[in-house]
Amino acid sequence: MYLTPVEEKIFNGESGPTYQKAIEILAALGDIYGADRLIPIKSAQIAGVSYKTIGDAGLEWISDLKGKVVVPSILNPAGMDLECWKEMGISEDFAYKQQEIIKAYEALGVRTECSCAPYNIYDDLASFGDHVAWSESSAISYANSVIGARTNREGGPSALSAALLGKTPNYGFHLDENRRPVILIEVEPELYDSDYGALGYIVGEMIGDKVPIFDLNTIPTKDELRSLGAAMAASGSVALYHVRGVTMESSKYELPCEKITIEEQQIKEVYKFGEPDLIAFGCPHSSVEELEKLARLLDGKKVKKEVWICTSRALKDKHPGLIKRIEKSGAKVFCDTCMVVSPASEKFKCMMVNSGKAHKYVPNLCGVKSILARTEDCIKAAVSEK
Ligand code: F3S
Repeated sequence: MYLTPVEEKIFNGESGPTYQKAIEILAALGDIYGADRLIPIKSAQIAGVSYKTIGDAGLEWISDLKGKVVVPSILNPAGMDLECWKEMGISEDFAYKQQEIIKAYEALGVRTECSCAPYNIYDDLASFGDHVAWSESSAISYANSVIGARTNREGGPSALSAALLGKTPNYGFHLDENRRPVILIEVEPELYDSDYGALGYIVGEMIGDKVPIFDLNTIPTKDELRSLGAAMAASGSVALYHVRGVTMESSKYELPCEKITIEEQQIKEVYKFGEPDLIAFGCPHSSVEELEKLARLLDGKKVKKEVWICTSRALKDKHPGLIKRIEKSGAKVFCDTCMVVSPASEKFKCMMVNSGKAHKYVPNLCGVKSILARTEDCIKAAVSEK
């Protein structure tokens, strides 16, 4: 990959070891994937934040870095609510290490809101056609598909390197030719709420990392789109999808010849019954519309089970009335974290979720049984004595 004279100097260590390491990471990726050069990015979203996932080695790596990010950069969810961690049952030792990770990122100039839905917090991170370096899989899918920005599936280190240099290697989803859909997914049933997560759960397993285009009978909301994308990114590794007549680039390309049809029965089979001891919402982090729906469903009710709603601190702070309505029911609103990346969910036996992504990850990453249900059914289970 070509480096400009200025980039060559960074590569040779003239800006110090942190920037040298960053450009080495990007150059190595560029060489592997055939990038011609580095291109400027508008923002970075950096995974590798929860102490549960990165441990002491990750903390040490980030703490050793010396420098400042040069584009707006935001963190992925941490392993705990940074304020209410005691209420989650997090240990003092874990909390200390988690705070150290956040401080290390803060020293690098990274905004320390920890959210996988940064597009619901800031308007300056990504717009149509912008190149970005994001690393949480549902955020990548949303950026590429719904916003129409361009990002590869970055890892935490490559997103942080891109943030420090303000650049990313020009390959993959940054290029038009790789954004073309290669498989048509015809969906027969009308979909609602978590059906989109169920659809993503099935399709991701079927197509791996291909770029699909959906032909749907219903027009999804933005939240339903991200639910679809998040689940496909978890059960497969789909980073970009199109929905005919809905998403930004869906009319740009001809329809592919390869086709799969999804029938109603396949969606129904993803739903299973069970007795949850934790009901968790907010994967990806709840939007205002989702918080409003939950508040409406919980108005005048008391939950009889542990209920978590995960969202960003920015939205919690911006909508205190909404949060109060939810909390009046006994449900807990946690910020900065989620049911998957926090160790706090591991003490439960069975988690009910309305997210196809959480449904895929909870058994593997938390060791907890998972049940997928529609939002209304989750609330019914939450307020039931059984
Ligand atoms: Fe976000 Fe956690 Fe789900 S990071 S997409 S809420 S697994």
